[in-house]
Amino acid sequence: MRRKFIAGNWKMNHGPAATSEFFSKFGAELKDAKEVQEAVAAGTEEIAFFVPAVSLLTAVNVAKELPVIVGAENMHWEKSGAFTGETSGPMITEIGATHVLIGHSERRHIFRETDEELNKKVHAAIECGLVAVLCVGETLEEREGGKAFDVIKRQFVEGLKGIDGETLAHKMIIAYEPVWAIGTGKTASDADAEEVCGFIRGLAKENFCDKTAGELIILYGGSVKADNTKGIISQADIDGVLVGGASLKPDSFMQIVKNAL
Ligand code: PGA
Repeated sequence: MRRKFIAGNWKMNHGPAATSEFFSKFGAELKDAKEVQEAVAAGTEEIAFFVPAVSLLTAVNVAKELPVIVGAENMHWEKSGAFTGETSGPMITEIGATHVLIGHSERRHIFRETDEELNKKVHAAIECGLVAVLCVGETLEEREGGKAFDVIKRQFVEGLKGIDGETLAHKMIIAYEPVWAIGTGKTASDADAEEVCGFIRGLAKENFCDKTAGELIILYGGSVKADNTKGIISQADIDGVLVGGASLKPDSFMQIVKNAL
């Protein structure tokens, strides 16, 4: 049985003060949610927050007593050097964060990050002991042009170059986020999301092996809310969700965590 992975991606929201406030409220919600506590303690559900770099230290400190994972939203592939404005993997691990998002669609499309760069980031993350969540997904134009599967295959294969199956299954997570469903209120239908997540599991089988494909955690992201979580999470190849807007408020995110149980 694969564990469920329920993650919030705060994007450029919540500085240190708001981060502190969020976790004290989320901690109170968690206290009342016995079934969530039990699932997390049993290892069947993980709760993660990907937060802005400036809020990472606060998040790690204030969430210390909570059974949650804290991760960064991005990183550079070099360990240090003349890269003004960037954050390296060792800086993230020094703070105590354990996970990192790589290749979120906003990184790919707004900041023009390429598959080659993202592959370097994946290697750098693994090297310094971070769990890398590699995001893939097609634009509306690519979907309408019948290219969705080609695009996802390219992002998967190029992004994972040089990575072995054991690493993919145990030190990585793949998140499918159709660009047209992010922040738009348009969720992919449960069947559409499952079709692509099943395709990704097939790619893991083809490029690695059955065991890797069976163990790989695959998430869906794009306008996930409390009321569509159950349908999405009940799909055979979807193990969790990556939530943007609805992860910014402790109560709405907790409802998603509960609905995913
Ligand atoms: P959304 O964002 O839930 O606001 O659509 C998801 C994401 O970009 O990770």
